[in-house]
Amino acid sequence: MTFDIDAKKTLLKKIPHGLFICGVREGDEINGFTASWVTQGSFDPPLIVMAVRAEGSSHGIIQRTKRFSLNFLGSEQKELAAVFFKPQSALGGRFESAPFRFGELGLPLLENTLGGVECVLVGEICMGDHSIFAGEVKSAHLIRDESPLNLAETGWSYGG
Ligand SMILES: Cc1cc2nc3c(=O)[nH]c(=O)nc-3n(C[C@H](O)[C@H](O)[C@H](O)COP(=O)(O)O)c2cc1C
Repeated sequence: MTFDIDAKKTLLKKIPHGLFICGVREGDEINGFTASWVTQGSFDPPLIVMAVRAEGSSHGIIQRTKRFSLNFLGSEQKELAAVFFKPQSALGGRFESAPFRFGELGLPLLENTLGGVECVLVGEICMGDHSIFAGEVKSAHLIRDESPLNLAETGWSYGG
């Protein structure tokens, strides 16, 4: 049996994704990054499953603090998504262009998105270049019930 790498790449790129800003906090340090490998994993308890790049600065913060927030971007917020994946000179710098507040779990919730949830880490699979984190939703804040931003509309690609 041969493994057709090109077929794998073409097919995996077809998995539909939304675009989110994951927020983390460790003491006074906050950080956020654009995430697309996100899905719901359970109704009861409500679980969010997210893959996080092992070499990213947020990965260790999630492992140590055992919590993260997920901010849901509106269809017109491509520019904000771009702010949160570009390299930054210091942790937290991305939030300079995005107003936010802290939720009940102390995690950053962006003000102008569709809303955000805060999650407590309940499981992780660390294998490969991304780790899979399962977070139980502990708080939810709806700001506006409008269309979400989807990766397919942006012309960007993350996957394959
Ligand atoms: C379209 C797009 C989708 C992305 N999706 C993810 C993702 O699901 N998980 C992830 O860890 N990084 C993802 N990234 C990469 C991170 O946003 C990027 O590596 C970021 O700089 C990480 O920040 P940090 O190192 O401060 O945590 C994505 C990047 C782009 C451009």
